[in-house]
Amino acid sequence: METLRTYEIIDSTNLEAARLLAAGKAFHGLTILAYHQTNGRGQLGRDWYAEPGKHLAMSVILQPSHAPVSQLPFISMKVSLAIAKALQLTDPIIGLKIKWPNDIYAEDKKLAGILIENSLQSGKIQHSIIGIGMNVNEEYFSSDIPNAISLRMLTSMEHELLHLCKIIRNSVLEFFHAPGQDWKDEYDQMIFRRNEVSTFNIEGKIIKAVVQGVDSEGKIMLLDEQGESKSYFSHEIKWIL
Ligand code: BTN
Repeated sequence: METLRTYEIIDSTNLEAARLLAAGKAFHGLTILAYHQTNGRGQLGRDWYAEPGKHLAMSVILQPSHAPVSQLPFISMKVSLAIAKALQLTDPIIGLKIKWPNDIYAEDKKLAGILIENSLQSGKIQHSIIGIGMNVNEEYFSSDIPNAISLRMLTSMEHELLHLCKIIRNSVLEFFHAPGQDWKDEYDQMIFRRNEVSTFNIEGKIIKAVVQGVDSEGKIMLLDEQGESKSYFSHEIKWIL
């Protein structure tokens, strides 16, 4: 069975994954790669724009067998670790960080973003669509997105999108099957701004806090200026960079 479908142009690889699932034509590990998305979608309902042919836009379908919804934060953390590890094996000189929960950063700028769309039933995960958007061969970004960086800008080299897609897909599937929390130490080592003060918006209040790590539920642990440590899920806080 073909495990990779490639499209020159499509609305969104996540939408195509959802259509294939709805039509009963999808399976665990099926991956969709597009060279141009006309309706790429980002987190929080935002649009995701990218330069055609230069950006890696892919979705991997995961079908965890009967995993409880409490596993969701870990799927997102494992996916980001899998991407970071795959890239580091390709080019060990790039210093990557994971901005909790799942953005990939390099030199304090965003290299890749992940949009995970889940289907849940009776407290179990039926499937997850792992959408990955990575800046690969872009030579520059417009001033509207000053916070972005590409692999090419980091390595001064062009990278083949199909090859990257395959190594990332393989790494995502490998980490997805990693047992227990064996991967957690590696994740902790890569946390962006760990042990540094960062600014957050928490329930409309701007606070400064030190990122201490991620707890056993996948929540970020922050130590505030009053010396109090609290943990938060990703929907409860917003980084201010
Ligand atoms: C983010 O906002 O940081 C997440 C962006 C995710 C974009 C990718 S590109 C491939 C996949 N298809 C989409 O429509 N979105 C994701």
